[in-house]
Order: sequence, then C-alpha cells, then structure tokens
Amino acid sequence: MLFTAPFIKLSLINFSLSLSLSHFLNTQEARQRGDSSSSSLIFKTSMAGTGIFTDILDGDVYKYYSDGEWKTSSSGKSVAIINPATRKTQYKVQACTQEEVNKVMEMAKSAQKSWAKTPLWKRAELLHKAAAILKDNKAPIAESLVKEIAKPAKDSVTEVVRSGDLISYCAEEGVRILGEGKFLLSDSFPGNERTKYCLTSKIPLGVVLAIPPFNYPVNLAVSKIAPALIAGNSLVLKPPTQGAVSCLHMVHCFHLAGFPKGLISCITGKGSEIGDFLTMHPAVNCISFTGGDTGISISKKAGMIPLQMELGGKDACIVLEDADLDLVASNIIKGGFSYSGQRCTAVKVVLVIKSVADELVEKVKAKVAKLTVGPPEENCDITAVVSESSANFIEGLVMDAKDKGATFCQEYKREGNLIWPLLLDNVRPDMRIAWEEPFGPVLPVLRINSVEEGINHCNASNFGLQGCVFTKDINKAILISDAMETGTVQINSAPARGPDHFPFQGLKDSGIGSQGVTNSINLMTKVKTTVINLPTPSYSMG
Ligand code: G3H
Repeated sequence: MLFTAPFIKLSLINFSLSLSLSHFLNTQEARQRGDSSSSSLIFKTSMAGTGIFTDILDGDVYKYYSDGEWKTSSSGKSVAIINPATRKTQYKVQACTQEEVNKVMEMAKSAQKSWAKTPLWKRAELLHKAAAILKDNKAPIAESLVKEIAKPAKDSVTEVVRSGDLISYCAEEGVRILGEGKFLLSDSFPGNERTKYCLTSKIPLGVVLAIPPFNYPVNLAVSKIAPALIAGNSLVLKPPTQGAVSCLHMVHCFHLAGFPKGLISCITGKGSEIGDFLTMHPAVNCISFTGGDTGISISKKAGMIPLQMELGGKDACIVLEDADLDLVASNIIKGGFSYSGQRCTAVKVVLVIKSVADELVEKVKAKVAKLTVGPPEENCDITAVVSESSANFIEGLVMDAKDKGATFCQEYKREGNLIWPLLLDNVRPDMRIAWEEPFGPVLPVLRINSVEEGINHCNASNFGLQGCVFTKDINKAILISDAMETGTVQINSAPARGPDHFPFQGLKDSGIGSQGVTNSINLMTKVKTTVINLPTPSYSMG
C-alpha cells in the first residue's frame, strides 16, 4: 500500500511495524538460506526494548549508560522523541544532568588509563564481538530507526549491518596501523651523524566525545566509537534526540560484548542543558561531531583539542553534453531522493549544460513519478522528514523558488512532515534553494551555458563536501574534479561517503578533519617519539 490518505492508518502502523520489519528480515534470511517459506521465522525477532534490551528501559523511559550500568537520571525528567511520521511521542529518554555528565567524564578518564594498557589484539577482539552482537540484533535496532527517524525499513537494516562491518573493519585496520611505528635515523638531516635513533608510535588522546546526527545515528556513532576505542581512547556518546533510542540499543551491544566499565558512556538529554557543558568539558580530549552549523560554534568554544567535524553540503551534480543521461537520471534519483534527501552527501543542486537540459529533466521527471511516498514501515522511497521545523524550512525554500519563478516539475504537496518529491527546473542563482541545503526531497536544476559556470556555482557555495561530474571524457572529468572546491568529487556517480573506509572530508563550512576508518584512527591518536642518543655514531655496515 502506498500513501493514500494523511496517515489514517497510523494507529495500525506501530502495531504492524515489527511484523513488517521482521517479515522483511526473515524473508531476507530465508532467501540467504534458500528457504522459500519464511513464515516460521516470523516473531523470532525481538522488538526494541525487549529481549536482550529489556535492561535499557525503565517503564516507558529509556535509561542512559554510565559506569557500565543502565541508569535513570536523578533529574526525574525525560525528553520526548517524536515519530516523524505520526508526529506523536514514540519514545522517551533520560534528561541527564550536568552532575551526571561530570560523573561520566570522571569514569571515562580513569577507564581510559587501563584501556590504553590493554593489548591491541584484545581491543580488536572486543570490537569484533560488539560488531557480531550488533548484526545479530539488527531487527530491534532497525525498528527504532524506523520509528524515530522514519528511515525506510530496508535502509534501517542496511544501516545496522553496515555499522557492524565498519566496527570489524576498524578493528582490523587498527591492529595493522597501530601495530606499526617509524624508525628514523639522524644522519639523513644535514650536519648530523648517525647518533640518534628516533622511534615513533601512536598513542591515544584520552576521552573522545562523539556527537552523531539524526540521519545516521547508529552508523555515524560507530564511525566515531570504533576508531576511538581501537586507538585506546575512552568514549562518551551524546546521541541526537531523534536517533537516541537506536544509539542506546547499539551501545548495549558494546555493553554485552564486555568492554570495561566506564570506558563507553551514553548520555542523553537536552542540548540546551548539557550540550555546551559536554563540548566544553575539561576532560574531553577530542570531539567528533556530525551535524549542522552547530559544529561551527562548538569549534569556536572547544579549545585546543583535535576536532573532526562534518557539517553538511550543497553537493553539485555537473552534467556535460556528452554524459550518459540515463545514468545521470538514475544517479540524480538515488543521490537526490534517497532517505528523502536527508543525507549530507545528497545531490543538492543539478548544474546541467543547456543543450541537454530538456532531455535530462524529462528523464528525471519520469523517474520521480515512480517514487513511492508513505510510511517507512512499508519501505516507501519518500518518507516524512525528521521534524515539523525541518518540513517548514523546506517549504520556505520551495515558496521562495515559486515566488521567483522556478518551474515546478510536479505539484508541491505536503501532509504533516511528509513532502512529496519535487524537481524544480529553471532555478536561478537569486533563489535561496540554489544555495541552501533543504535536507528534504526537493531538488533544484540550474541550466548552465558552460562547464566554467557550473564550477563557479559549485565553488561559490559556503559548503564543500562532495560533488559529482557526468561525462564520458575522463580527461575533462579530471580537470573539473581538480577545479571543484570539495572534499571529494565522484566521476559518473552520485556523491556518497561509503565504502566506509574511504576518506571523507569537507572543505570550507562542510567541516574539518578527515573521516573514513584510517583517517579517524589517526585523528584520534597523537604521535609519540622516543629518541635513543648514542655517544658515538653507529652505522650499519651490512
Ligand atoms: O549524512 C551524512 C552522511 O555522512 C552521508 O553518508 O553518503 O553514506 O549517505 P552516505
């Protein structure tokens, strides 16, 4: 069933969610086993907050995680998590206090000291264990993703599995890169004899504070947690409000894996009460943040610690005359509309050479018409955006474009937080949507006279996360890639962060530091050197 009326059946959706998700998972598992009858598996998959996750719930409020235990906040208060689709309270989490933050930091500092003395192979072993538990329990975690961020069920499952793989990859990579150091000899620098042997290794920073965003609360949490832990750091997680329950389930998988008490903590609450307190806490030695421009203010207040920040993008898709337009259209749909455009790496502006613009727009329009719109439980392509304020913001961009004369390829339609996919043609640079990040299923097309015009538009943006170029001429593609001021340029594909071990970084307001497994491990360590000074030069005669 696709969307037929304004969520009339919402009361049934919550009830049917676990069944449809279980059915989806069971069907997948049955297929993998070559079993055509999957019905026997239905109901075996537990729901969020049940089975092994019972401990994380206190009545109807999820607990926070501190000192290796699930706790109820002394505040006696909770924060409501609104289901984007139903716009009703779906979950509640603890509103932790500053005192509880202090306690968590104290534990994190002391647990890190022993963790740094834990052999690397043992750290890796625990991470592999956590990854396995996470993947084994993908159903209840995916269920909470569906309910608190309206991510389509199949994408929610993918997020959990991808996260397990990321943790394991990180454990393996950490064992390799942290198991090696450097050995330098002094006589390579002018004026020196071989009297100094320099040994370098990588050591942990201390306490890493991880703040993931709502759109990938599990995956972008583990992309911070796993590198921090393998490198010998302790980790304090502050989940986004929407996505907090999925994060708490994920943290429980680390708990069950047997990590030492206090090494990992997860503190929930209102940003207004504990946000600055956390990011400015003197115990924090590194902040890894993904989100919006809050990151800019965090970076101004954080002090002299390493920062890893990804703060969004306005990824441009430049289309040349010789591009394969069917390939471009498929990538615009995938890049612009998957998870309803709520990805930092979504295609957020199409810059197409005028001579092929009509044909491209027609192809994209035909594909937009096929997108399904409705509940995430039913795997619809387009689901409700995360909040009413987000939907209002998107609508503001659409209305501005309307007032200034953009061509609407579809009728603009919104019900609650659900916005139908919309392609806006003939967008001009004086329209807000040409520059601002809608984080919704609305995509502007600017018709350009030359490649230079496209590059200039891309480079005039405050953002510089990713971009893409479509052409059959690889030489031109390389030149354009070099000219685009973005952290990554994809040639003949939509922007994307993954595979998760690839470097991922933004220029300008899109962020600082580079992510990806190896870069994150390196960022969460510092170099330590020991120099052996010899009384007389010593040369190997070999
Ligand atoms: O939303 C920001 C994410 O880092 C994008 O990740 O390219 O895998 O969707 P993705």
